[in-house]
Amino acid sequence: MPDRYAVIGNPIEHSKSPQIHRAFAEQTGEQLEYGRILAEPGHFEQAVQEFLANNGKGLNVTVPFKEDAWRLAPEHSARAQTAGAVNTLILLPDGHLRGDNTDGVGLVNDLSRNHGSTLSGAEILLLGAGGATRGVLRPLLDAKPKQLTIANRTAAKASALAAECATLGNISGCGLDQLAGRKFDLIINGTAAGLEGAVPDIPDNILRSGGWTYDMMYGDAPTAFVRWGQSHRADKALDGLGMLIEQAAESFYLWRGVHPDTAAVITLLRAK
Ligand code: ATR
Repeated sequence: MPDRYAVIGNPIEHSKSPQIHRAFAEQTGEQLEYGRILAEPGHFEQAVQEFLANNGKGLNVTVPFKEDAWRLAPEHSARAQTAGAVNTLILLPDGHLRGDNTDGVGLVNDLSRNHGSTLSGAEILLLGAGGATRGVLRPLLDAKPKQLTIANRTAAKASALAAECATLGNISGCGLDQLAGRKFDLIINGTAAGLEGAVPDIPDNILRSGGWTYDMMYGDAPTAFVRWGQSHRADKALDGLGMLIEQAAESFYLWRGVHPDTAAVITLLRAK
């Protein structure tokens, strides 16, 4: 029986992870199965244990179970520890479960490897102070930006999150209404505003000339924040499809020890 992997969440039918991981497996010649698991709230642990008892070797975890996965795993990577959330569970050879979070490295790899961005020395604005933002903080700070500003509708949440990470780099938090007069090289949207087709309420002139925007969300049509970037003369206005594929690639590497070629899979999914 081949090693089994899956993505677990609720809802889950829309997930592109099976398609991505099957493409990685085909490309690398790894023998594995990759499926999807719909778990009911309150039954996450039971669903994981059942899967592991049936030759499951690892899971990707998505909404709303990333914090549950963090609680379930007895050991974590440093980046999962900062995130307080786990998107990748790995069954170690000794039977222990390890929790990691590949979202941030997915974002950083998409920006730097796929798009040639230099994050080191950049002034970066990260919008939102929820799970999406927390999930990417450590790898973003590891890339050594000159300054990372977290701005949130509720200012106190941004300040608290920045304070938690103060030892990891030059980071500060503020309200969206405190951004007037500032300039950034890169603005990353980690808010949930896009779910309602909206963008966070930010000043018009905060993107430096030649600056980029990045929406952690993606869709078949350009997202509201991608459109914001385009209409504010971003040099590049990127969506989160590349991040999705790069976080998957890092999970695949954690499980199999093999780095897949992400460019081919990005092209495949963009063509759909
Ligand atoms: P997630 O886990 O997806 O990050 P979350 O923890 O609910 O979700 O956080 C959602 C984030 O999007 C928050 O930062 C939220 O701002 P508040 O903390 O002020 O609620 C932000 N958000 C949601 N809708 C928004 C909107 N219309 N404009 C600006 N920020 C918004």
